[in-house]
Amino acid sequence: MTPLVKAFFDEATNTVSYVARDPQSSACAIIDPVLDFDHASGRTNTASADIIISWITGQALTLDWVLESHVHADHLSAAPYLQEKLGGKIGIGANITVVQDTFGKVFNEGTEFQRDGSQFDALLSHGDSFHIGQMQADVLHTPGHTPACMTYVIGDAAFVGDTLFMPDFGTARCDFPGGSSAQLYASIQKILALPDETRIFVCHDYKAPGRDEFAWETTVGEQKALNVHIGNGRSIEDFTKMRDSRDATLGMPKLILPSLQVNMRAGQMPEPDEQGDVFLKLPINKI
Ligand SMILES: [Fe+2]
Repeated sequence: MTPLVKAFFDEATNTVSYVARDPQSSACAIIDPVLDFDHASGRTNTASADIIISWITGQALTLDWVLESHVHADHLSAAPYLQEKLGGKIGIGANITVVQDTFGKVFNEGTEFQRDGSQFDALLSHGDSFHIGQMQADVLHTPGHTPACMTYVIGDAAFVGDTLFMPDFGTARCDFPGGSSAQLYASIQKILALPDETRIFVCHDYKAPGRDEFAWETTVGEQKALNVHIGNGRSIEDFTKMRDSRDATLGMPKLILPSLQVNMRAGQMPEPDEQGDVFLKLPINKI
C-alpha cells in the first residue's frame, strides 16, 4: 500500500507537516500540523493550518486522524483547529501521561490539569494499528527525543517524528526532560528494521552542510547507509557519546515554553481566566 503523501513545510519553525491520503478512498490523516505563533506579540495565526485545510477540501478528502508524533517543543499544534474545521480524531503516544506529569510540575499546573491523556481522542501504544480508509497504520513507540515519541508506519511510508532527520543532518536531540540517547539509538533500530525501500518522512529540516535546499523525504536504505550520526552500523557507544556531547552545546528552541504548555493539552490553550483572557506561563530557571 502506497499512500499519497503531501508535505507542508513551515519555514518559521523548520517543521514539516504531512497529509497521508488513501489512494483508494477519500480518507486522509494529517501528521504534525503547525499553529503559527508570534512569540513577541503572543498572537496565534492559522495561516499554515488554513493552507492544509484548503488542500484537503480542494481534493474533497475526509479527515480521519490528526496524528502527533510527540509533544513538540518548537511549534504549537493546530490539531484542535483542524479537528474543529474538518473532524477526525487526535492521536498521540500513550506515554503522553509521562510528559504531562513532568511538565505539569514544571508549569505548576495544579490538579485541574489532567495528566491522563484525556485531552486526546486516542492514546496509541507500540504494536497498535488503525485504519485511514483502506490503509493500515502501524504504531511504533520510538522514544529517546521524548518519552512519548511515536513513529506511524502507513503502508510504505514511515512518519518518524523527531528520531531520524535527513541522512546528512543526522538525528534528533535527546536532552529534553525524559530524553535518552541510548533509547533513541534503540528506537532508530526499530525504524531501520523496516524494509529498505520504506519511505521516511522527517518532521524537521534545517538544511545541512553542502545542501542549500530543504528536504524531508528519504528511505530506510539511505538512512542505514548514509546517516551521519547512526548510519553504517555506528555503535551505541559512539552514538550516545556523540549525541550527548552535541546536545550539551544546543540552546533551547525559541518556542519551547509556549509549545509545551499548549501541546501537552492536545493543542488547546490553558483555561481562560474570569475575564475570558488566556495566559501562558514563563517559568524561571526551570528548564
Ligand atoms: Fe520535537
